[in-house]
Amino acid sequence: MADNPTKGLADVVAASTALSDIDGKAGRLSYRGYDIHDLAGRTSFEEIAYLLQRGALPNRAQLDAYTAELAEGRSLGPLAEACLGAIAERQEPMEALRSLVSLTGADDPDKNSNAPEANLRKAARLTAQQPILVARYHAARTGATLPEIDPEAGIAEAFLHQITGRRPSQREIEIFDTCLVLHADHTMNASTFAARVCAATLSDMHSAIVAALGTLKGPLHGGANEQVMRTLEAMDPRGVARAVREKLARGEKIMGFGHRVYKTEDPRATHLRRMSQELAEASGDDTYFRMSREMEEVVFAEKGLYPNVDFYAATVYHYLGIPTDLFTPVFSISRMAGWTAHVIEQHADNRLIRPDSEYVGERDKKWLPIDER
Ligand code: ACO
Repeated sequence: MADNPTKGLADVVAASTALSDIDGKAGRLSYRGYDIHDLAGRTSFEEIAYLLQRGALPNRAQLDAYTAELAEGRSLGPLAEACLGAIAERQEPMEALRSLVSLTGADDPDKNSNAPEANLRKAARLTAQQPILVARYHAARTGATLPEIDPEAGIAEAFLHQITGRRPSQREIEIFDTCLVLHADHTMNASTFAARVCAATLSDMHSAIVAALGTLKGPLHGGANEQVMRTLEAMDPRGVARAVREKLARGEKIMGFGHRVYKTEDPRATHLRRMSQELAEASGDDTYFRMSREMEEVVFAEKGLYPNVDFYAATVYHYLGIPTDLFTPVFSISRMAGWTAHVIEQHADNRLIRPDSEYVGERDKKWLPIDER
């Protein structure tokens, strides 16, 4: 069977977007024309969510109004509240989020509208709710009582405080906020594409986000950050190079490496590596960071592959005190900004997304009655 050159839709332009752009050869990423290197560390996640969803970086008054809207959207709604305990008992984190987002949709005040203004409000509510869903789920499954969050706290500070149970330092808040900025949007990645396919049927915002969450969950996409940490935890720190070579020799993929679009270093990985090193050194135990550096060298020497966004995100989240099985949910907190903006963009200039397939099965077969088969 001849290989389909567009298998996995590689290099197929599936939508037009003004949200983000990648130059895979130069290793550049921009959000609405702003280079990620100019945004990271200088712009809050809330500003980036506003930029993506509403079209421009906010001024002070616009940001104040948007953060007030986010603060109002922090509740779960009665149906999600009622089901939270059972979900926390029975479902893994990404499954739980898929369920909870679906349930919050039932109580969304704009649930019956796909109008542009309604979708802007839903986008803000979903962005505000996602960190709360993760924190509430984690508290429900561990029996912890969530600390009261400072009403002035931004998403990064409030989430770190609720998940770790301790007040994060100013530098930890800045680092986590930068992580959220770095993960907010990334052109036609698998989960965004799933959201756009769903939105293009003129389905609603919550359905599109549920499709995106199910897609982010997989280890070839957002699930890779958790797998990176599991790989590091399972390795002997003195046997990193050998373990990596053995995995490659067995034909296994090394999680956190390789990318469909980047043929050089992923610009997000540059920031995440630096932040991982800073946190590792501050923690007094940089073992995982040193192991990561060694993995990076071996994977590049053996396969010529660079780390992607998930590789150093894993150790950054680890050093920040986030439980490993919440790494992919953390990705979803950030990517909610991009997914919702893509749904809005899709609805603004919609056409059903319906690609073709190449039939490779048998033809012209003779039908037989059931007793003659
Ligand atoms: N480890 C080892 N080999 C790899 C890796 C890896 N991480 N990634 C790619 N390769 C190899 C493949 O085995 C293949 O080799 P071959 O041509 O000899 O068969 C070649 O490089 C091309 O790989 P594909 O999987 O065909 O590339 P594709 O563009 O389809 O996949 C992907 C990209 C899914 C990211 C891939 O690199 C991968 O599986 N990486 C590991 C999972 C991961 O980190 N995912 C997160 C991606 S970033 C994100 O989604 C947020």
